[in-house]
Amino acid sequence: MAMVRSIHVFFLILLVLHALESAFANKFSSFSHADESSLLFQFKQSMSIDKSALSHAEACSLLFQFKESMSINTSVSTYDSHAYPKVASWNLNGSDGAGNCCLWDGVECRFGHVIGLDLSSSFLSGPISSNNSLFNLIHLRTLNLANNDFRSSQIPSGIGRLSQLTNLNLSYSFFSGVVPKQISQLRNLVSLDLRGNYWPRLKLQTSDFQNLVQNTSETLRELFLSEVNIDFVPDSLVNSSSLTSFVMSYCGLSGDFSTGILYLQKLQVLDLQVNDNLTGYIPEFHGNSELKQLIVAQTNFQGSIPASIGNLTHLNVLDLRINAFTGTLPASVSNLIQLTHLDLSFNKLTGNLPSLQSLSNLTYLSLRENNFDRWKLPDWFGKLNKITYLNLAYVNLYGEIPSSLFNLTQLEYLFLNGNQLKGELPISLLNLQNLETFHLDGNITVDFYLFLSLKKLENLYLNGNNISLSVIDSHTNETQPKFKELGLTSCNLKVFPEFLRFQHQLEHLNLDNNNIEGLIPGWMWNISKETLIELSLAHNLLMGFEQHSPVASWVSLQNLDLSHNMLHGSIPVPPPSTIMYDVSNNNLTGEISQSICDLSSLQLLDLSFNNITGSIPPCLEKLSNTSMTVLNLRSNTLQGKIPNIFTSESKLEMIDLSENKLEGHVPRSLENCESLRLLDLGYNFLEGTFPFWLGALSELQVLILRFNKFHGVIRIPGNIKVNFPKLRIIDLSNNLFSGDLPHKYFQEWSAMKETMANTIYMQTSIEEHREEYTTYISYEFSFHMTTKGVKIYYEKISEALFVVDLSGNMFRGNIPESITTLTSLQLLNLSNNELSGVIPPSMGNFICLESLDLSSNKLSGMIPQDLVQLNFLAVFNVSNNSLTGPIPHGKQFDTFSNNSYMGNQALCGFPLSKKCGDSEASKPPKVSFEEDTESDFPNGIDWVVILIGAVTGLVIGLVCGDYLSTKYYKWFSQRSRR
Ligand SMILES: *[C@@H]1O[C@H](CO)[C@@H](O)[C@H](O)[C@H]1NC(C)=O
Ligand SMILES: *[C@@H]1O[C@H](CO)[C@@H](O)[C@H](O)[C@H]1NC(C)=O
Ligand SMILES: *[C@@H]1O[C@H](CO)[C@@H](O)[C@H](O)[C@H]1NC(C)=O
Repeated sequence: MAMVRSIHVFFLILLVLHALESAFANKFSSFSHADESSLLFQFKQSMSIDKSALSHAEACSLLFQFKESMSINTSVSTYDSHAYPKVASWNLNGSDGAGNCCLWDGVECRFGHVIGLDLSSSFLSGPISSNNSLFNLIHLRTLNLANNDFRSSQIPSGIGRLSQLTNLNLSYSFFSGVVPKQISQLRNLVSLDLRGNYWPRLKLQTSDFQNLVQNTSETLRELFLSEVNIDFVPDSLVNSSSLTSFVMSYCGLSGDFSTGILYLQKLQVLDLQVNDNLTGYIPEFHGNSELKQLIVAQTNFQGSIPASIGNLTHLNVLDLRINAFTGTLPASVSNLIQLTHLDLSFNKLTGNLPSLQSLSNLTYLSLRENNFDRWKLPDWFGKLNKITYLNLAYVNLYGEIPSSLFNLTQLEYLFLNGNQLKGELPISLLNLQNLETFHLDGNITVDFYLFLSLKKLENLYLNGNNISLSVIDSHTNETQPKFKELGLTSCNLKVFPEFLRFQHQLEHLNLDNNNIEGLIPGWMWNISKETLIELSLAHNLLMGFEQHSPVASWVSLQNLDLSHNMLHGSIPVPPPSTIMYDVSNNNLTGEISQSICDLSSLQLLDLSFNNITGSIPPCLEKLSNTSMTVLNLRSNTLQGKIPNIFTSESKLEMIDLSENKLEGHVPRSLENCESLRLLDLGYNFLEGTFPFWLGALSELQVLILRFNKFHGVIRIPGNIKVNFPKLRIIDLSNNLFSGDLPHKYFQEWSAMKETMANTIYMQTSIEEHREEYTTYISYEFSFHMTTKGVKIYYEKISEALFVVDLSGNMFRGNIPESITTLTSLQLLNLSNNELSGVIPPSMGNFICLESLDLSSNKLSGMIPQDLVQLNFLAVFNVSNNSLTGPIPHGKQFDTFSNNSYMGNQALCGFPLSKKCGDSEASKPPKVSFEEDTESDFPNGIDWVVILIGAVTGLVIGLVCGDYLSTKYYKWFSQRSRR
């Protein structure tokens, strides 16, 4: 009862105070009788309402206490160039009224009460506690603390005491943790802004959000909650009839978005961008709508774009990029004549694009990556004459570029890449004097001279075009644009373009895949010394360096790729900031210089396929402590032991030391590499028993030890619990392993017991942080095999490839049944061992098996009929055993040739000419297998050869996934702007 009464009293007081205030504001209105006023005053005085009667002096002192509780840290970064420490001038005891807080910077008073506080961008620093004096200023209506640094503290729950608040802005102020539930007590809120509080992010509990929305349904107009972690949008928001702005980007929302919100009469801005798991659709629009901005980018919205979207005639921003919208773009979009920004990129729109000629105010248009029918660039684009950003990359364009496009003189960004455009770029290209970024690939002929006259051009990618460099050499520095990014990949260049001599602001330079011959000119090492981040000269015909033994002088360089040339000479040492260093596939000689160990930013070191000699320097241990993820020294002439350089800080995901002359044991410190996914030590002279302790590496997927001198029986010591849980590819072939097949492991390799149907390739990404965005560069793991002296190079490893190769050892005994539990296997090679007994009929369970090689063993008995179930089997080899009886018939077995069965005296039936049960049949063909066998290579068909056959001949089932691809490995980079 007491509780209820006090609430009543409280409301009464509020009511009375409210009335009083109105009376002051409007002297002659409601309270005309002086005695009534005085009665009310008496009432007021009879009550002990100390807080609300806060004297002016008290209010000032509270503010001053707040000032004292904060430190002012001007070294804290702020996003606002007008920031200054507003509270610095606050002073209680100043002369000429300085002690009056209503005159203080950022303070707003009405009737002697502090009702507004704007301390945004004031370099405030430090946490605010819940009993901070600030929360006694209960007349506050607006509180703006945006853009300060509250040191990742929580929003204080005292905020709930400011029940008069209408405007609360705590954006970009380094609050974190859970938003206190007291926020939902702010029943008068009109505008709430909590954007941009991360490190770590703010979290708003669903129930508090619901209460807030319910309590403010009459008043709430603006809700800015970007980057706040929120699970759902409460459905009750459809009752917030005053809502004009609803901004919830990057919130991690999921579930279904209630389309009712789109029908709110006053709604002008809806921004839901980047909520990947938020589902929804664009509803029909009938009747009036005030919507000006509809931003539903990078969510999980689907369906088609309804024709009635054309009723949203107030729209000036429509951003639906990165969703799964299907169907055609309705022609009614041309009604949206106020549009300035239209982004439909990365959807699945089909059919023909309607004319958008009427959208004459468009400045930004992106249609990138949709599935439109093949189309020619229509002339009407040339009428969008305010456009500054036009992205038509990957939209299935063909034919020539109409000259009208070059009327768009305001263009700053133009993307036409990823189409099938052809023809010649006309001289009217010179109209585009505002152009800063231009991407065009295909089969366009262009004289590079034209681009050198576009003075604002900074980023130019002309990959795969026919570029003539004829006149440009006469150019000097004054007349050239200052390029930052220049991509001339696959442009048929034969020489180093001379104009590069004068380029001093380049950040990215790609000249790969050309036919540039001869020596890298000396001046190359001097261009863009301060700025160059990435230089790729890979896949050219370069022979060496004009300046002997160059030391790169680019202070910002992070990525140097000189791979796939014919360079010779010693290894140039890049600057310490390098994050990726790839000089693979050159003719580089010399030893690994100690100074490479000083590249403390290195994430990738690829020196593969050179003639590097000496030993692996122990100082590489320094790099194992850094962020290095890839160490690739494959195919050199490195000698000595692998040093014990792997520390527990290691982030290495791929280590490839194969094809060297390394000897000794596998260093035990490798067990520190907890992130390791691929380890290739093949083709060395390593010895010792099977390194069972690698089984503890819970990420290891690929283990290659082939062609070494490992020996002994493979066993799991009793105390070992984790045994290669993710292993998918193991190749122990051509060592000296003996004893039984490792049947205990067959039970343990759990990854090989699940089928998966994906075609992701193993890769890692290297992050390059730049001022305005981060670039991710993918490095795809690769993996090599040598077959009869021919090196075959697989640069991609499908995540769905499952291989066991134990061939060329001295394994004996039976093939254990347990091997057939590895149901994902696609390639199984047990050839060239001393296995005996029968082929287990349960091998018919290998539903994904594409290649089975059991040749050159001592297997006996019949070939089990169950193997006919292997629908994907493309290669089968049981030659050189002691098998007997009829060869199974049907399905894949009708496709194998004699070679699969040679050297088994007692087999009969198709394809052998020996008929079953007919002793008069012609003799089986003479075994001719030995002839093409080299001494260091086992009998039987290596599974790599098998792959080539299989890739061309086999339809691969979805169940079993895809496997190796034989394209050349390459870098590709993906830029993501935020
Ligand atoms: C989306 O949902 C999936 C599955 O629940 C989750 O793994 C993923 O992290 C979510 N993505 C985002 C961006 O929240
Ligand atoms: C909205 O658009 C649809 C389809 O374009 C149209 O049929 C309908 O008449 C429009 N409604 C209003 C109220 O404008
Ligand atoms: C285009 O923008 C201008 C200037 O903002 C405005 O006056 C004009 O009405 C707009 N045109 C259309 C068709 O909305």
